[in-house]
Amino acid sequence: MTNDNQDNLSSAFEINKTFWNSVSKNHLNSELYDVDGFLGGKSSLNDIELPLLQAVAGKSVLHVQCHFGMDTISIGRLGAKQVVGTDFSEEAIEIARELAEKDGSAATFVVANTNTLTDHIDQTFDFVFMSYGALVWLPDLGHLADQLNAVTHPGSTVMITEFHPTLYMFDHPKNTIGYDYFNTHMYKEVEEGSYASDDDKTMYEQCFWSHALAEIFEAFKSRQFDLEVFEEYPYSPYKCFDNMVEVEKNKYAYRLNDVIIPHVYTMQWVKA
Ligand SMILES: C[S@@+](CC[C@H](N)C(=O)[O-])C[C@H]1O[C@@H](n2cnc3c(N)ncnc32)[C@H](O)[C@@H]1O
Repeated sequence: MTNDNQDNLSSAFEINKTFWNSVSKNHLNSELYDVDGFLGGKSSLNDIELPLLQAVAGKSVLHVQCHFGMDTISIGRLGAKQVVGTDFSEEAIEIARELAEKDGSAATFVVANTNTLTDHIDQTFDFVFMSYGALVWLPDLGHLADQLNAVTHPGSTVMITEFHPTLYMFDHPKNTIGYDYFNTHMYKEVEEGSYASDDDKTMYEQCFWSHALAEIFEAFKSRQFDLEVFEEYPYSPYKCFDNMVEVEKNKYAYRLNDVIIPHVYTMQWVKA
């Protein structure tokens, strides 16, 4: 855990919200998100998370940091009894509601900062899902686990499919190692555009944190969640970092000196 004070944190969340509000519309029109394919019936979920997500059938599901809701709606299509997506970007949530309407989905969406999730969500869910690029925006995973503890009940599942902290150590455009593996401090950087919109030349400020695997394990283990699944993958289903190559169909890898590193992990916790 880092020692960011409350003022710094509020300002970091504002900076990040501005970034996500600014890029959401571009993402909607991007090749990476393939919204037309999605509205034509294609699932936005990947082979990595899809087998475990079949368990949502008949369950109430909370999808935290849902962006504009394609995965949330895809989870609804798997037969979830109820599905709610949360995100702090008002722009993303507005698009999510429009997509749900177009898709005839019963998914609902709530504007909520994950750090204060319990101010916005007052029910518990059978299944909570977070994925691909969610944790890096949060300062403290112990605090995240507290929030998820409050919106789950005994027997609930928390499933996280995320980019691996080893992948996040690399400065991909520069092909060097550039970031601490451990959560030593908040990074504040200015970057051009975003992972899904090459044409966007705007410079955006962003604040983010590294999270070692041990930090993640400790956060959930110490809140009485039992680890049921943990898998690591040497590829990403998205070509979303610089200098990635397609190593197999729809599998992308970042390779420095041909070294194979973990790119994604899936973990599933069950609340005792
Ligand atoms: C990379 S996207 C997640 C991608 C997601 N798997 C999808 O379906 O596209 C990260 C999301 O986290 C949201 N986010 C970042 N920080 C947040 C916070 N503190 N609270 C809530 N949402 C946050 C952003 O608005 C963005 O929609």
